[in-house]
Amino acid sequence: MSSLTVLGCMWGDEGKAKIVDFLGVDADVVARFQGGANAGHTIVLNEAKYVFHTVPSGILYPKAKCVIGAGTVIDPFGLRDEMKALMDQGIMFDQRMFIDVRAGLVLPLHKQLDGSTEAELGASKIGTTGKGIGPSYADQAARSGLRFGDLAHPGWLKQRLESLYAYHDLEPKDLQNDLDELAAAWEFLKPFSAQADALLREWYLAGEAILFEGAQGTLLDLTYGTYPYVTSSHTITGAASTGTGFPPRWLDRILGVYKAYATRVGEGPFPTELFDATGERIRRVGNEFGATTGRPRRIGWFDAVGARYTASLNGLDAMAVTLLDVLSGLPELKICTGYWLDGQRLPGYAPHPLDLARVEPEYLILPGWDQDIGQARSLARLPQAAKEYLEAVQDLVEIPIELVSVGKDRSQTIVVK
Ligand code: GDP
Ligand code: IMO
Ligand code: MG
Repeated sequence: MSSLTVLGCMWGDEGKAKIVDFLGVDADVVARFQGGANAGHTIVLNEAKYVFHTVPSGILYPKAKCVIGAGTVIDPFGLRDEMKALMDQGIMFDQRMFIDVRAGLVLPLHKQLDGSTEAELGASKIGTTGKGIGPSYADQAARSGLRFGDLAHPGWLKQRLESLYAYHDLEPKDLQNDLDELAAAWEFLKPFSAQADALLREWYLAGEAILFEGAQGTLLDLTYGTYPYVTSSHTITGAASTGTGFPPRWLDRILGVYKAYATRVGEGPFPTELFDATGERIRRVGNEFGATTGRPRRIGWFDAVGARYTASLNGLDAMAVTLLDVLSGLPELKICTGYWLDGQRLPGYAPHPLDLARVEPEYLILPGWDQDIGQARSLARLPQAAKEYLEAVQDLVEIPIELVSVGKDRSQTIVVK
């Protein structure tokens, strides 16, 4: 009986899937609880690369059960295609994939709205992934949205879909065609529909190990992130409970995933952003291009102010630091230790985006290292400068580092004793 929640603690793409996959060997269940196909979760195993959008990263372990919780938003066509592609690669879903009937639906109309809203915003756009996530969650909150379980009730589905078009002042091009396509997707997905909340509680009480897989990151949280440059779901610890119906008291351990530097895709303030050759080098070596949209990721130094904020918000027990290998070869490394605004050192994070866009970072400068660290499997094998870098991160964030990732592959992971 145990649960572990793995969360991205910056702006997403921290390497959550790599960590979930590494820890998945001990998990009976891996559950997604928020977000949708805006997520791009990459796993590299024996040189094969898998990118998951809605399917939980536990699917590569044949015995692990996978849950898509009620707090997610599902594009039924995208999910069907993602599952089919994995089936073609030999991955089995029967009896091990459970999609909560209360998950929200992302429909083609939501993708259209995502695109048109962004176009209207012009220069002040959010830089969304275009997957219809914001409009779908907005419809859920407005109670105009459709849910996965609605697909089981054709009459109700038709009525809800008509109301949804009317709510958005849109005319369906061919409502019957929409309904037929949804019926075909349901035909495929129906065997996986479940009341996943009840199952999760039952499995936990039966002694199974549950791993919650976060999507996005804390600084993209709808409330606590850099609003309005955020995603439309909650990405913090509590969302694992609200997004799956799992009692919050049963969230036993919380692991925060941080990149050894910082990245962000889309718009919004980024205090430690680099605009120079160092940033370009990190982007190239780290292959920092979005797993969902292919956009180049913005790069910056590790931000210990942001990291402390997210560690505290999430109540982390431990942290995993990923992509440390990407920093090899840089002569010196910087870690942001404080924010200055109008001549004052701020006591913590800046909650307003206008302030965050103006803060001047204060940096600790540390020596770099030249060695390739991809083969290191213990801290002792790391160059002294890499150990000192990790110690500085740990001291500044005030959370113990439990895992260090030194490469894409599952095996390239150091467990800190
Ligand atoms: P997620 O969304 O948090 O799961 O992260 P993404 O999959 O979007 O992005 C992380 C990228 O870094 C992927 O391409 C991973 O294969 C890669 N990656 C993960 N950990 C490491 C690491 O320690 N070193 C290197 N070089 N790449 C890593
Ligand atoms: P994973 O799970 C990085 C960002 C988008 C945009 C903002 C809103 O792979 O870490 P949305 O489409 O959600 O309305 O976009 O959030 N974003 C992500 N950035 N990783 C993600 O997921 C992201 N999902 C959304 O770039 O800035
Ligand atoms: Mg990603």
